[in-house]
Amino acid sequence: MTPGARIAAAIEIIDRLDETGAPADRAIERYFRARRYAGSKDRRAVTERVFGIVRHRARLDWWMLRVQDNRRPDGRRRALADLALADGLARSGIENLFDGAGYAPKALTAEETELVEALAGEALDHADQPAWVAHEFPSWLERSLTDLLNRGLAEEMDALNTAAPLDLRVNTLKGDCARALEVLKNDGIEAEPTALSPIGLRIEGRANLQAATAYRGGFVEVQDEGSQIIALLVGAGKGMKVVDFCAGAGGKTLAIAAEMKDQGEITACDIDPKRLGALKPRLKRAECRSIESRVLVPGGDMWVHDNEGAIDRVLADVPCSGTGRWRRRPDARWRLTGRDLRDLAKDQRRILHEACRLVKPGGRLIYATCSILAEENERQIEDFLAWFGGFRVIPVKQVWEETIGAACPADPARDGDFLRLTPHRNGTDGFFAAVLERTA
Ligand SMILES: C[S@@+](CC[C@H](N)C(=O)[O-])C[C@H]1O[C@@H](n2cnc3c(N)ncnc32)[C@H](O)[C@@H]1O
Repeated sequence: MTPGARIAAAIEIIDRLDETGAPADRAIERYFRARRYAGSKDRRAVTERVFGIVRHRARLDWWMLRVQDNRRPDGRRRALADLALADGLARSGIENLFDGAGYAPKALTAEETELVEALAGEALDHADQPAWVAHEFPSWLERSLTDLLNRGLAEEMDALNTAAPLDLRVNTLKGDCARALEVLKNDGIEAEPTALSPIGLRIEGRANLQAATAYRGGFVEVQDEGSQIIALLVGAGKGMKVVDFCAGAGGKTLAIAAEMKDQGEITACDIDPKRLGALKPRLKRAECRSIESRVLVPGGDMWVHDNEGAIDRVLADVPCSGTGRWRRRPDARWRLTGRDLRDLAKDQRRILHEACRLVKPGGRLIYATCSILAEENERQIEDFLAWFGGFRVIPVKQVWEETIGAACPADPARDGDFLRLTPHRNGTDGFFAAVLERTA
């Protein structure tokens, strides 16, 4: 593909995102599935451009509004503004790309030329931009995020707008971190141990993991360090009965099984059979036998009823806004609505009330989200405790000492007895966890 054709591809994908609301990575995947002739360099260049435009979106739109009233900011205009503001291209450089030759975008209109000229010499950032524009988050979340992050708002939002590293969890059923590093090295992949998770490795940059022996042979799984921490905080041990209530494709279930040395009873539940189905090949690759999966009937499942008060550890890794994962899904911030948040909060409440019934006296309920918003985190736990008298919060520092052992990064003055991980502070995706013990 020529440089112009790559820009045309990015424009087409950006417009598709706006039309369909599809996640950017899926839209890119679909685009290239229909264009097998494109090479890996083309794919990388188009992906970087699409993600760049998504990551700069509020600032690009702000600039367009400033220099040219309120014409609709579609993919083409956003690409032009990105080339001018992020790449610093002058009019002639942009015209070379937009020359209409072959698969390149058609030549600039008079109005587009005016836009490019008005943006020449400007930078993406400008002192007049309000916080939500400068730090790329939805304006309607400003109050919530400011209450939560206070003076750390800018740093956290900027960190959530960078590219995330690739984290791996070592499958300790097959070998320790040193062994996994050795197998990765033989695959030509360099990794480093993660700072917080004792079972994590981090790869900066890219790696073809799907083809690597380390991955195909089940020595490592792709999992963000924060997710690994949540699985470790479950505190599951050999012989326990454990339920992963919202298991999805079982990322955390597998980590829990490895902690239990594959000895015990783990039930991976979900209401979505398709997601749960994706666990099967992973079980095989990890050579893990202690996990059963179960599709739940939401709101009144018989199996849940039959197992009330019988489970040592119940993880409720509930559906959430995913605000903590904006590094990986930068476009998700622009799709989230207040209504989504309210609906999610209702689901989270329902799931907590259902999952808690499984926990035996002295057992633990671990509530987790990949959200940074208090509405989905501490507010949910406060409401739950006000409703159910029979649970108490175990300070996460204590649980961390019991399970992970090293210094816990939680700050009780800021986060109370809960854990909140963030990209800026901890270098992980954003996560929240609360550990509750059943007292009666
Ligand atoms: C955040 S994801 C779980 C991710 C998974 N634990 C992991 O580590 O990969 C939330 C999951 O909750 C499931 N879910 C939604 N409503 C549910 C319910 N009422 N009961 C159980 N699972 C539910 C969704 O299908 C989704 O797979």
